[in-house]
Amino acid sequence: MVADAPVASTESLAAVAADPTYVSRETPTREEDDPPLAMEAMRAVQILNPSGEVTMPRPDRTRVMCVANQKGGVGKTTTTVNLAVALALHGNRVLVVDLDPQGNASTGLNVPHHTGIPDVYDCLINSVPLVEVAQAVEGIPNLWCVPATIDLAGAEIELVSVVARESRLDRAIAAYPGEFDYVFIDCPPSLGLLTVNALVAAQEVLIPIQCEYYALEGLNQLINNINLVRQHLNPKLDVSTILLTMYDRRTRLADAVEQDVRNHFGDKVLQAVIPRNVRVSEAPSYGQSVMTYDPGSRGATSYFEAAQEIAERGVKEPVGRNA
Ligand SMILES: Nc1ncnc2c1ncn2[C@@H]1O[C@H](COP(=O)(O)OP(=O)(O)OP(=O)(O)O)[C@@H](O)[C@H]1O
Ligand SMILES: [Mg+2]
Repeated sequence: MVADAPVASTESLAAVAADPTYVSRETPTREEDDPPLAMEAMRAVQILNPSGEVTMPRPDRTRVMCVANQKGGVGKTTTTVNLAVALALHGNRVLVVDLDPQGNASTGLNVPHHTGIPDVYDCLINSVPLVEVAQAVEGIPNLWCVPATIDLAGAEIELVSVVARESRLDRAIAAYPGEFDYVFIDCPPSLGLLTVNALVAAQEVLIPIQCEYYALEGLNQLINNINLVRQHLNPKLDVSTILLTMYDRRTRLADAVEQDVRNHFGDKVLQAVIPRNVRVSEAPSYGQSVMTYDPGSRGATSYFEAAQEIAERGVKEPVGRNA
């Protein structure tokens, strides 16, 4: 499996950067700027899908996807929120589990997560059923979120002394009575017990990689952990999807990072690449995904395309719970 091989070091990227003969694409194929108005309006209708006409294929079984990368700020939460909304807007039933004490996914979906709200901590530590803490996401039919409050910050330590500490989330998801097409687990930027719980509960890992220098550093550690979990706790686990995020065509390193990642991970890397786009970063402050905040923007279109690819792959090569 390609993902088992060591990840190329970013030194090769440094060599590219230092090469004065290196020329970035002269005609950029991906515009970060927002597209012309007519096109934008057309895309917005396709993305918001008010008539429900545009559908993304639904998998035969629930696909539990762990969105992980221990590097901070690479777009894990943004990816979780936007893919979840995109799939839900196009006929899929989706659950987002916020497994990061920062609670960013809960904020992005505008789900209350202040102290006192039942959250994923209660499920992990006190065995409260997920269904009792999941909240419907306002304005997006078919989307639910299990929020994270600041309580979750203590879970890494408290889990140590809990029975079956690595598989608490797996059990909670398995016991959920509702039928989901997708469960996305938004991981914190660490490889502790919370992330291990996500890796044990999932069949697939989605790794967002930021198109920046140092992007690949630390990935070996993540891949090693994934391999350990696969060997000892969850033989079905597979790194199925790599998504390039925050692509900035003005930096020639972005091209080099993309090539490096594609050479290493092959067809696990989605064709869709997420550009750095200001609308994407503005959306959470309005408690929205970019899909609803600015559906005509480049950011929304790219996440829509990424979701479509993920959905199509899931039908071609069925994966999922009980597969
Ligand atoms: N495509 C994008 N264009 C512009 N800004 C982006 C994009 N994707 C993410 N951001 C911004 O980058 C920051 C980090 O993104 P995000 O929170 O999704 O990363 P993360 O990996 O979940 O971080 P953490 O490791 O802290 O959980 C956020 O402020 C987000 O709004
Ligand atoms: Mg995050």
